Parts: sequence; structure tokens; C-alpha cells
Amino acid sequence: MLLDPGMDLTLRPMKYPHFFDRFKDAIKNTWTVEEVDLHGDLADLALLSDAEKHLVSRLVAFFATGDTIVANNLVLNLYQHVNSPEGRLYLSRQLFEEAVHVQFYLNLLDTYVPDDKERAEAFAAVDNIPSIARKAEFCFKWIDSVFELRALRSREDRRAFLLNVICFAACIEGLFFYGAFAYVYFLRSRGVLQGLASGTNWVFRDESMHMAFAFDVVDQVRAEEPELFDAGMEQQVRDMLAEAVECEVQFAEDLLEQGVSGLSLSDMRQYLQHVADRRLAALGIDPIYGSTNPFAFMELQDVQELSNFFERRVSAYQVGVSGTVSFDDDF
Ligand SMILES: [Fe+2]
Ligand SMILES: [Fe+2]
Repeated sequence: MLLDPGMDLTLRPMKYPHFFDRFKDAIKNTWTVEEVDLHGDLADLALLSDAEKHLVSRLVAFFATGDTIVANNLVLNLYQHVNSPEGRLYLSRQLFEEAVHVQFYLNLLDTYVPDDKERAEAFAAVDNIPSIARKAEFCFKWIDSVFELRALRSREDRRAFLLNVICFAACIEGLFFYGAFAYVYFLRSRGVLQGLASGTNWVFRDESMHMAFAFDVVDQVRAEEPELFDAGMEQQVRDMLAEAVECEVQFAEDLLEQGVSGLSLSDMRQYLQHVADRRLAALGIDPIYGSTNPFAFMELQDVQELSNFFERRVSAYQVGVSGTVSFDDDF
């Protein structure tokens, strides 16, 4: 079984070909940081209101370390316990993508925050800015919960590992990052920071696939060991999502504390609740909030940009993508 301790090396016959398909699909999405031009954003930054500048400075401070935390968990936990060579191929690819994201956000901070002292403060946000520190503590709590596990021998070990996987996919990549993307797309809908938005689209696409793979892992384990998914486990997932929403609402209160025209705290809260419900639905768990998506700019622009992405890639690099591309309903 997928979570049995060990290091399976057998690619033929392949036990989990859908993991290998995910690996091949991810390679079609290759992009590099050099392809994103952020310098055009500098003129926009100078014209933002003080409230909008505060929003952007908090946002980049979150981006400064967010992907590094995800990459660490990938190596320390997922790679260790997902016992499938084809699954580990995908995780290797994901690790590369997280490294590209880290480089993208490093480039973003170097460009947006030229002052050395301010830039150092942004990288120290996980210690110094309470709304970001709280999100980091949430991540570390769920890394620490499996830190001692070298092999998943008991049901409790496996449940603890599954909660870690679900936390990083549904709450961190699937909620904290989606919350951050919403601010970027809001700004783009106002006609500013197009460079950041174009890079974000590629990160968004990657994160959607990271989440989809993690949910594949959860589904596979559920098929193999259904007894792990009892009512207590479901309640733990719901509590975890609710806590993640609280963390992200606190971050929104911080970002929007000076009042950003066109983006209200209540809409942001509703959006986060909507996203949390979708993550629960993807896991086959009843929703908590019943909230609808208040942000039209999250639905329309992503699909548009995504098709541009593929058109450009296909014509420029002959990457083998064909057919219609749109976001899966889950995203
Ligand atoms: Fe990432
Ligand atoms: Fe990711």
C-alpha cells in the first residue's frame, strides 16, 4: 500500500500510473523566472495609495518565505512517506517548482523593495509581523506533528501523516496562497502590477497541480485503507480548515486595515470561506460555511491568462499541449 514503510523502486509494472501522468503534465508547464518582467510594475507602485502600498508590502512579506516552508515539508514528510517511485517523481518535480517560486519571490522582493533594511524586515516577517507569524506557526505546528515519524506503522501514524498532507494542500497551498493570489488579481483588475500578475498565473497553475496531486494521494489512501477516514478524522480536517480561515482573515485584517477601495474585508472573508468549502468538497467532507465566491475577477481572468500561457508556450517552444485548457471546477 501507498503508505507502507519502505522505498519501492519498481516502476514496471507501475502501480500508480496516474501519479506518473501528473509528473508528465507538470513538465509541460515549465517556466522560468527570467520570463517574467517585473520592472514595468515599478511605475505602478509609485502611484499606489498608502493603503495599497501597505497591502503590497504585507503581501510580498508573506511571499518571501511561504514557498520555502512548503518545500521543506515536501522533503521532510511527503517524499519520505509516499512509497511509490512514480509518486516520488512527481514530488521531485514539485520540489523544482517550489524552488522556482522561491526564486520568483526573491526576484519580486529585490525589485519591489530596493532598500536592504526593508527587504531584511520582509524576510523576517515570520517572526515580526503578527499576522504572518500566526500563519507560519500554523504551518510549523503541522510539520512538527509528524516530525518524529520515520515510518507509518500504526493507524494513528497514518492519520497524522494524512493530516499533514491535507494541511499543506488544502490550507497552505489551497487557502493561504489562494488568498494571496486574490490580492494580486484584485490589483490586476484595477490595471496595476501586471508583471506580478503574469508570474502569479504560472505559480497559480503550479499550485493547483500540487493540490491536485496531494488530493490524489489522499484518494488513493482512502481507497486502500478506508478505515482511516472516520468521523473523528473528518472533524479534525474541518477544525483545521476553520483555523486556517481564521489565520487568513487575520492576515486580511492586517492587509486591509487602512481601507483599500474596492476590496472589503467582508468580501475577502467570504472568498476565503468559499475556498475552504471547496477544499472540503474535494475531500468528500461537508462544507462549513456555504459561502459563494464574491470575486468575479478570480473566475474570469485566470482562464483567460491560462489559455494565453499555453498559446505562447506552444508557439514559442513547441511544448506538446493540445486541446482546450481551463481550470478544473475544483479550482
Ligand atoms: Fe509554490
Ligand atoms: Fe506548491
